[in-house]
Amino acid sequence: MFKHILLLVPLLLIFSLHNPKCSAQSPAPSPAPEAAPHIVSILKKAGHFNTLIRLLKRTQMDRRIYSLLNNSNQLTIFAPTDEAFHKIPTETLRSFTIQQKIQLIQFHVINSLLSFSDFQTVSNPLSTQAGDNGNYKFPMNVTMSGSNQVNITTGVTNATVTGTIYSDDLLAVYQVDRVLLPMRFSVSPPPAPAPPLKPQEVVLEPSADDDKPSGAVPVIHRGLSTMSFVAISVIAAISLCV
Ligand SMILES: *[C@@H]1O[C@H](CO)[C@@H](O)[C@H](O)[C@H]1NC(C)=O
Ligand SMILES: *[C@@H]1O[C@H](CO)[C@@H](O)[C@H](O)[C@H]1NC(C)=O
Ligand SMILES: *[C@@H]1O[C@H](CO)[C@@H](O)[C@H](O)[C@H]1NC(C)=O
Ligand SMILES: *[C@@H]1O[C@H](CO)[C@@H](O)[C@H](O)[C@H]1NC(C)=O
Repeated sequence: MFKHILLLVPLLLIFSLHNPKCSAQSPAPSPAPEAAPHIVSILKKAGHFNTLIRLLKRTQMDRRIYSLLNNSNQLTIFAPTDEAFHKIPTETLRSFTIQQKIQLIQFHVINSLLSFSDFQTVSNPLSTQAGDNGNYKFPMNVTMSGSNQVNITTGVTNATVTGTIYSDDLLAVYQVDRVLLPMRFSVSPPPAPAPPLKPQEVVLEPSADDDKPSGAVPVIHRGLSTMSFVAISVIAAISLCV
């Protein structure tokens, strides 16, 4: 029996050397992309975040977040529990356009990695994926009192951090007791519908990451540049002849 185990050791060593998951643990020159954490798996494991998971998928923010982390961007996510979602009327959530749902989720994603003690010193307002943090847009302030009470205010919602779900050197996820509603939503109740995106912008859209067909625009660009190249060559040839 013992001899069999001894025989296994070199086999395991060889296996782990060839397994990318294991070699990621050794200090490799470039960080392994597989190391990027998946927000949905983290929330699933924690339980009681079903509404948030649904919204992350519906808005494709799950992929956006993964892609940011995979590109070594550090993030902090405030994760409202299912109970937090129950505190806002179902009609309110249902009345949000898809654009607003995207902004709502983006608003919960902070563009930096904040450890718990960072809440003491972080400068307000925070920068979120929703963008403009000016008044009446997407402002969010964090205050820490004592050693462990972290309050968040958006000008519309006051929330409290009620736990740490996850933290590594790329991502921190904190549980919050309220859905963080941005000022932008309630100050102008029927928010102006976002103007339809121009084709170029659609290509650059963050959520249009991987599986959207790359569309006609790049082809047109390529076509155009080929045409201008031909035109330039013809002009050059003509001027050389003259
Ligand atoms: C993660 O990033 C690497 C390059 O850093 C890339 O090759 C890989 O396709 C990315 N994975 C996803 C799922 O975006
Ligand atoms: C944080 O919120 C709690 C309850 O919501 C409140 O009692 C406390 O005074 C707040 N602390 C600060 C610093 O605003
Ligand atoms: C957040 O803090 C900034 C700077 O202290 C302040 O100007 C702003 O009014 C605050 N916003 C909210 C929503 O509390
Ligand atoms: C949030 O808290 C501030 C002070 O801590 C208070 O003035 C404000 O009315 C509260 N807003 C809501 C919506 O509870």
